[in-house]
Amino acid sequence: MTDTTDSTDGTDMSRDVDVDNDADVATSDPAADAVAVFEMLVGITVIQTLRGMAALRIADHLADGVMTAEEVAEREGSHPRATYRLMRAAASLGMLSHEGQHRFGLTGRGRLLRADVPGSLRSLVLSQTSHGHWQSWEHFPEAVRQGSSQTEKALGTDIFDYYAQPQNAEEAALFAESMGDLSDMVTRGAVSAVSTTGVSTVVDVGGSNGAFVLTLMASDPRLSGQVLDLPHVVEGAHREAEKRGLSDRFSAVAGDFFVAVPPADLYLVKTVLHDWDDEQCATILRSCRSAANEGGRMLVVEMVIAEIGKPDLAPLSDMAMLTMTNGMERDLDEFDALFEASGWRRSTTYPVGGGYFGMELVAV
Ligand SMILES: C[S@@+](CC[C@H](N)C(=O)[O-])C[C@H]1O[C@@H](n2cnc3c(N)ncnc32)[C@H](O)[C@@H]1O
Repeated sequence: MTDTTDSTDGTDMSRDVDVDNDADVATSDPAADAVAVFEMLVGITVIQTLRGMAALRIADHLADGVMTAEEVAEREGSHPRATYRLMRAAASLGMLSHEGQHRFGLTGRGRLLRADVPGSLRSLVLSQTSHGHWQSWEHFPEAVRQGSSQTEKALGTDIFDYYAQPQNAEEAALFAESMGDLSDMVTRGAVSAVSTTGVSTVVDVGGSNGAFVLTLMASDPRLSGQVLDLPHVVEGAHREAEKRGLSDRFSAVAGDFFVAVPPADLYLVKTVLHDWDDEQCATILRSCRSAANEGGRMLVVEMVIAEIGKPDLAPLSDMAMLTMTNGMERDLDEFDALFEASGWRRSTTYPVGGGYFGMELVAV
């Protein structure tokens, strides 16, 4: 089934969906409905199967070809029978192929859990299931009752302060790496869509390890780029620039986007606004507006909530925002209200992959 929803500016928000979203109770089949609900409940084991695969480096072990579960267990030092059960579950998700006799190989999807491949999602899987991300789900119903994040209750502080604590440095580095992984999924689309005509300086606001701005810089050798992020993050951005051979045109600045951002011709603001409430977003957007060079532009990349009741990743991601942050996923009208209140106007919108959209803004 294909759901095509036109946004207010005619943007094609088409996406393929494969579930029947029939809301008509009178014609529904209770047995089939029960199976459908049960299948949703199995989601928790799906996530943990992916986590097990990533943590035990199953995909990396299989990089050279088909192996038995027992051979993988020997390499990894894990329990042979339990490893076989994990790999069997992964095969049921299409992450591994089963070649008979306990032998498994990598599928295209499974390959994405290798650590060393372009577009790897391994660190994203590990970071989404790590202590800091996982704990607040325990209090999820309270997030709905109170309308506020549960990270304070679960972690004793908000998620970004949690990552800033020295004892959580490893998890913070994993999170930054995972943001880069996620970036890869959408940066190609965004980089090919955004025009850099008339742009020489680009600032990636809350840019983490700089994957987005560095990809844009690689596509246009005239650009110099900067990441603005929290102090514990910027070292990772320097390392990423060095790895990509772009250090001479790059700098990373430790700062606070609620206070000030460096001047730029183009701001990149990717998956940042969804972490904050409307007032906080307006502060970030105004910081950029007042620092922007003449004719300054901005590219915001976020999920955009489409038609309610249609299969859509954005309202589900919104549940994570609800329990983990005081932010939210938004629809286009909500984004426009934010932009207009902060000196920006949305000029174009386009899908950039993975359920994300690029929204280009001009300063008004
Ligand atoms: C969800 S991540 C998005 C990272 C990156 N833009 C991307 O899409 O991969 C949000 C980023 O905002 C940064 N951040 C949070 N609070 C900040 C603040 N007050 N000033 C600057 N950066 C901040 C975090 O450290 C993190 O890197």
